[in-house]
Amino acid sequence: MVHRTIKIWSFLAVILLAGCYYDVEEELYPNNGCASTNPSYASNVLPIIEANCYACHKTGSVLSSVSLEGYEKLKAAAQNGSLLGSIKHASGYSPMPQSGAKLSDCNISIIESWINNGIPNN
Ligand code: HEC
Repeated sequence: MVHRTIKIWSFLAVILLAGCYYDVEEELYPNNGCASTNPSYASNVLPIIEANCYACHKTGSVLSSVSLEGYEKLKAAAQNGSLLGSIKHASGYSPMPQSGAKLSDCNISIIESWINNGIPNN
């Protein structure tokens, strides 16, 4: 009986802690939510590109001759349409990340709003 009570309480504790974890994360990183209308290069866009694209697209990478490292290079890809075309798997573009899973809808929407907002370097 005692053991069962402990089990139930630990179970509830895990659920409650998980709930807190999400609350806190949303407070700390409000712009990472998909509802964000004002993503910044440094805090929202760059982490996505670093995590999913830099393996092949850092300057000097042997895996691709296309560099997306730094604001200016990413801006050029954003302006010529290849950035959005490739991550959305649009026809006429090579689907990216190459041989990897498509980015989440949330991450795609962050990059898309950043481009629609004029590609700010903030
Ligand atoms: C596993 C390696 C790899 C990863 C990861 C990767 N790419 Fe690529 N990407 C390539 C290769 C290879 C090419 C072909 C260009 C070349 O020959 O270097 C390419 C081409 C591109 C191009 C030019 C394509 C065109 O149609 O004009 C863009 C833009 C691009 N990638 C964006 C991205 C983005 C954004 C990510 C991350 C979301 C990404 N890539 C992840 C390997 C990769």
